[in-house]
Amino acid sequence: MKNLPSYSTAPATSISSTLFYELSNEDCRKFLRTKPDNLVDAVITDPPYGIGYKGSRWDRFVPTAPLWREVLRVMRPGAFIVAASAAKTQHMTALALDKAGFEIKDLLVWHYTQSFPGAVSIDGPWRSNLRTNHDPWIVARKPLEKGLTLKENWDKWGTGAVRTGATGTSWQTNVVSCPKPSRADRDLGLTGLVKKKKMNGSPDSGYFTSAVAANNHATVKPIALMRKLNQLFCADGGVILDPFMGSGTTGIAALADGYQFLGCEIDKKQFRNACLRIDHGHRHSNTVPQAA
Ligand SMILES: C[S@@+](CC[C@H](N)C(=O)[O-])C[C@H]1O[C@@H](n2cnc3c(N)ncnc32)[C@H](O)[C@@H]1O
Repeated sequence: MKNLPSYSTAPATSISSTLFYELSNEDCRKFLRTKPDNLVDAVITDPPYGIGYKGSRWDRFVPTAPLWREVLRVMRPGAFIVAASAAKTQHMTALALDKAGFEIKDLLVWHYTQSFPGAVSIDGPWRSNLRTNHDPWIVARKPLEKGLTLKENWDKWGTGAVRTGATGTSWQTNVVSCPKPSRADRDLGLTGLVKKKKMNGSPDSGYFTSAVAANNHATVKPIALMRKLNQLFCADGGVILDPFMGSGTTGIAALADGYQFLGCEIDKKQFRNACLRIDHGHRHSNTVPQAA
């Protein structure tokens, strides 16, 4: 594994004047403890869903209220959290956020068309389940500062409202359509790590080779989707936090739109990929896909 420059040295208080991004390879509960209250303008995150997705060990649990309470603490009053979930367990994520003190505001649907049915055939048209064409994202908000109206909170903290589109244009709905991430999306900034894998064949006839994605994270999100979510829920120039950043997609998207970014990932390899992808996206913004 390559040695990476350390990104997690800047003190949090300097974030708005000098820091573009701060990435940390640790448990986010530890990371969050180092951060002051009321620092973050939006949390756009893709936490574990608790379904053991594709056998992932990190996905055996759903983060519980004490962890979300720490996230709430570092957010500004009125700041939004948008957290990915799975249809089967979104009620658990929503309940944990509710118990932590967030106000549940909406359920945003990420609509896509490519999916593997993953169903058991029973009898003719009868199968175990419908085909999945969306993922639910819980939208919740830290309560406004006590005694302030939404407008007063917005004027004081720059949070509390959603970017619905310019006057006269169509009002943004809570459904965002975006294709699943392409290979280019996944491997942005990682092309040096793409390996050729020998498939069928023999030394005489020659092997067929196939490129193996360098970013093998099981749940990479599309950069275009993350740009859209950041733009909807965070005012220009704000600080976006992703405590479960995986291979860093929220961070690539945040920096492409001039946001500052705080990211944390517990897994070493995913953290390395996140650093490389975010650094590449930041230095070559023309290679970053537009918002959905
Ligand atoms: C759903 S994935 C995020 C994928 C990401 N959206 C992407 O595009 O690559 C969730 C990530 O949270 C990480 N994780 C789980 N528990 C954590 C914790 N306590 N602190 C920090 N990271 C954690 C996992 O290792 C996993 O990579």
